[in-house]
Amino acid sequence: MSKNLSELSARHGLENNLFENLAGNPDTEAIAREFLIGKASVNGAVSFYDFLKAENRDKKVYVCNGSACLCAGTQKQLTQHLEQHFDSSEIGHMTCLGRCHENSAFHYQGRNYSGLDSAEINVVMDNKKSVKDSYRVGSLGTPILTGKAISIDQFINAFDALMTKGKNEILGELKISSLRGRGGAGFPISFKLDSAMNTESEQKYIICNADEGDAGAYSDRYLLEQQPLLVLFGILASAYIIGADHGILYIRAEYPESIATIKNNIEQLAPYIESINFDFKFKIISAQGAYICGEETALINSIEGQRPEVRVRPPFPTQQGLFNKPTVVNNVETLACLYSITTKGGKFYNAIGTDKSKGTKLISLDSCFTHPGIYEVEMGRTLLDVFEQCGGGFAKDIKALQIGGPLGGIIPTNKISDLQLNFESFSNNGFLLGHASVVGIPVDFPMIKYLHHLFEFAVYESCGKCFPCRLGTKRGEELLLNAIKNKQKIDRELFTDLLNTLEQGSLCAHGGGIPLPIKNALIYFSDELSDYFCN
Ligand SMILES: Cc1cc2nc3c(=O)[nH]c(=O)nc-3n(C[C@H](O)[C@H](O)[C@H](O)COP(=O)(O)O)c2cc1C
Ligand code: SF4
Repeated sequence: MSKNLSELSARHGLENNLFENLAGNPDTEAIAREFLIGKASVNGAVSFYDFLKAENRDKKVYVCNGSACLCAGTQKQLTQHLEQHFDSSEIGHMTCLGRCHENSAFHYQGRNYSGLDSAEINVVMDNKKSVKDSYRVGSLGTPILTGKAISIDQFINAFDALMTKGKNEILGELKISSLRGRGGAGFPISFKLDSAMNTESEQKYIICNADEGDAGAYSDRYLLEQQPLLVLFGILASAYIIGADHGILYIRAEYPESIATIKNNIEQLAPYIESINFDFKFKIISAQGAYICGEETALINSIEGQRPEVRVRPPFPTQQGLFNKPTVVNNVETLACLYSITTKGGKFYNAIGTDKSKGTKLISLDSCFTHPGIYEVEMGRTLLDVFEQCGGGFAKDIKALQIGGPLGGIIPTNKISDLQLNFESFSNNGFLLGHASVVGIPVDFPMIKYLHHLFEFAVYESCGKCFPCRLGTKRGEELLLNAIKNKQKIDRELFTDLLNTLEQGSLCAHGGGIPLPIKNALIYFSDELSDYFCN
C-alpha cells in the first residue's frame, strides 16, 4: 500500500510535494482530493508532527525539554519567567534546540534563545532582540571540518576539478578513505553511493539528513551554520557520482538559523549550479518536529507526505527510496567530509584515525564541561583527553555521561578512562559512539528519573509501526513512573524480559536501542536503583 502512496505522491514531484502542502495548508480535505489520497492518510500524517498537531497550533513559545536542559535544571525557572509574558496554555515544548552548551533554551517567533537571565528574556520579549549563541569550536588533531570555512571560489574550483575526473575514480577515493557514516550506524558511504550509481533509473536523489534529533547533539547545527559550503559540496559531489538531479536537505524546524544560512548559501551558489553541465537542484525541506524522521526510511516517508513510519528493508533506499527511486541518505557530517577527501585524496583521510574508524569525529560537549562546545577529534584519541584538553574538565559534579543521544550508553565517570573515541572502543565496552553528543548527569540527579525521561521520550517518539516498541516503551515508562510516584517496586525479571523484547523484536534502532542506556544504568548504578526493584 505504501508503495502505491509513494507513486501517488510522486505524481506531484518534489517541488510541489505532499509534505510541504500538509505543512502549509490546514485544509486537509482539499489536499487529499488534489493528491488522490485518502483523508485518513492525510490526517494520519498531519497528526504525527509536533508542529502540525492541532493542540500545538496555539502555542506562542516553546521551552526545550531535551536531556541537557533537563540535567542542567534550568527549565523550571525559565518557564516561570516566560509565564510572566504568556499564559501557561501558550507555552509548549520542543525537544532539543541544540543549545546544550548554555541551556535555558526556548523558541520564540521563529528564533532560538538560550543562556539568558530574566532581564535579558524581558528584552527579547519587548524588542524581539536577536541574541546570537556562542560556543567554543576546537580540534584535537587534524582539523577537517573545523578549519576556516571555505569560500564560494574554493567550492567552485574544487567542484570544477572534481568534474574532470570519472565517477568511478571519485568513488575509488571515497573507498580508499574508508569514511563511515556519522549519523549513528557507521555504514561506509562508498557502499551506498556505489549501489545507487549502479541502479538503473531516470531519476535519483541525494538526501542530507539534517534532522539531528539526539538530545545533546549540535554538531550538525554547527556545520549547517558555520560550514555550510562543506555540506553543500558533499551533496553535490554525491549527486554527481550517482547521477542524482536533486539534493534535498531535510532540516529540522527546531534549527531556524540553520535553514536560513543554508538557503542563503544555495542562493549564492545558484549561478554556478546553473552553469555546470549536469541537471541539478538543491531543495530544502523544513521538518515538522518528529524524532523518528531522523531514521532514513521514516524521513523518506515524511517527504512523500506519508505518516512517517519506518519502512521494512529490503528494498533499501539505494534501490527503492524517495518516490520509489534510488536514494542515498547521508548525515550532514558524513557529507561535509567529502570536500577534504576529494581535494586531498582518500589516502590523506585514511591516514587519520584507527584501523576501523578513520578520520575525525565531531563531538558536542554540553554545559557540564568548563568549556562546552563542538570539538573535532581524531578517531582513536582517549575520551579523557577530549574531556580534559577540549572540555577543560567538568564544571559540575557529574556521576555519568550519556553519549550518543537517547539511545546511547550511560557511562559512569569511572569508565571514562577505558574509552577511546572510535566505534569499536565504545561497542566493545558495551556503549555506543552514535553521533557523539555528550550530556552530563549530575551527582544529585536521580538515575531513576533520568531513565524515566528516556522511556518517556521513547514512547512519545515511537512511530508505532511495530508492537514491541509501540507497547513496550509505554509499559517501561509506566513501570518507572509507578516506582517513582507510587513506590511500586519493579519486578526485575519482568523488566529484563521487556528490555530483551524491545532489543530483539523492534523493527528499527529506536525501540531496539532504548534498552542500552537502561541496561548500562542497571549495571553501573545498581545500588542507587536497588530501592526501586524487587528480587
Ligand atoms: C530513531 C533513529 C533516529 C535517527 N536520527 C538520525 C538523525 O537525526 N540524523 C542522522 O543523520 N541519522 C539518524 N539516524 C540514522 C539514519 O537512519 C541513517 O542511518 C543515517 O542518516 C545515514 O547516514 P550516514 O550513513 O551518513 O550516517 C537515526 C536512526 C534511528 C533509528
Ligand atoms: S522500533 Fe519503534 S520507531 Fe522503530 S519501527 Fe518499531 S515502532 Fe517504529
